[in-house]
Amino acid sequence: MSFIKDSVNRKPIVDTVFVIVEAARQAKEKYGAENVSDAVIGSLYTEEGKLAAFDTVFSTLKSLDNTHLAKYAASFTGNPDFQKDAIDWVLDSNSNLYKEVIATPGGTGAVGMSIENCLEDGQTLIIPEIAWGSYSLMAQMHNLKTKAYSLFEGDHFNMADFKAVCRSVMEEQDRLVLIINDPCQNPTGYSMTIDEWKEVIAFLNECSKTHSVVLINDIAYIDFSYQGRYAKKYFTCFDEISENVAVVVAFSISKSLTSYGLRCGAAILLGKTPEAVQELKVVFEKTARATWSNVNNGAMETFSQIMEHKQDEYLAEKQKYVDLLKERSDLFIVQADEAGLKHYPYKEGFFVTLAMDNDERDRLHAALMEEQIYTVKVNKGIRIAICSMPLKTIDGLAKRIKSVQDSLSK
Ligand SMILES: Cc1ncc(COP(=O)(O)O)c(C=O)c1O
Repeated sequence: MSFIKDSVNRKPIVDTVFVIVEAARQAKEKYGAENVSDAVIGSLYTEEGKLAAFDTVFSTLKSLDNTHLAKYAASFTGNPDFQKDAIDWVLDSNSNLYKEVIATPGGTGAVGMSIENCLEDGQTLIIPEIAWGSYSLMAQMHNLKTKAYSLFEGDHFNMADFKAVCRSVMEEQDRLVLIINDPCQNPTGYSMTIDEWKEVIAFLNECSKTHSVVLINDIAYIDFSYQGRYAKKYFTCFDEISENVAVVVAFSISKSLTSYGLRCGAAILLGKTPEAVQELKVVFEKTARATWSNVNNGAMETFSQIMEHKQDEYLAEKQKYVDLLKERSDLFIVQADEAGLKHYPYKEGFFVTLAMDNDERDRLHAALMEEQIYTVKVNKGIRIAICSMPLKTIDGLAKRIKSVQDSLSK
């Protein structure tokens, strides 16, 4: 007898992060924090080892009237000013397409509702080979299969494999739904060039002659790009989509406002015709209502207040952390390259991922812990969270990892 419907996979979640977080905590207690390299935590931390929480954000949140915090949102798709502010902030005048917005509980809500509604049971979702783990979990929970495209060919996006995977999925089903996590890909830190984006869009237009296409562009880390406003320029490439292509831009306020726990984000729907975005909006709105109802009003209000009245202050505060992240990643990458430690092509973002096969990954990950270096295993690599490590912890880390790696091959 079972309480859960038969079609659901019951295997518990294997959480590769929290187990290691706990192991690192215990090591710090035993050996002293200064003797442990903790490269696990995937949130932005200060040089003093505290979770970064922007003053602009939390002073705004705390200044809101209690009734604003208490209230339901104005609608299941979010507050009108939040919707406008999300479009203005995310797209930054780089899109001439038709647009609609659904407020969501984080980027998770935006990606999840797209996956849930755009594929039939048993169909295949296309995801990156090295990726945020929730994509495949979401697919599993909606009875979908996944097929992964290899991310890199040398030091750039593996266009050939991306196309081959899309083509093979098209042979089996009438629609194409794919995720591209860009810029600042989690966990490799790759960002596609404008030319790569143009080629992707031209290819999806080809596919759309026979199949409907939904591109889910997960931009969770976009506001920590080293390119500033230029990071949003690639949205102009989306203007070229054909009528049979829709784009869902999944925006996460968790990262942009350092407010992971407030659970706010947005699905920005882009299409060539008003009908295309309306169709998505109608169904996404019903999903919102049937799943989480409406989104945290205080979080939406905080975002709007900042965008409308404190944008300069917010940008200045955020820039300090973007600069810090750049300093950290520069240090790690320079030292990794000096030491000959192989990593995937990193451009920007919270993580660098060391490149290796899964056998070596398992051995190295365990051996690093013996040396009090705590990291996270990902497919075909080891994730180094530069976002949470102070510069003094990063300094020398690549060389230490390389010598552990060398000792394994002896
Ligand atoms: C690649 C990626 N997408 C989306 C998210 C969603 O985050 P949230 O739901 O907190 O906005 C995350 C969070 O870690 C992520 O790494």
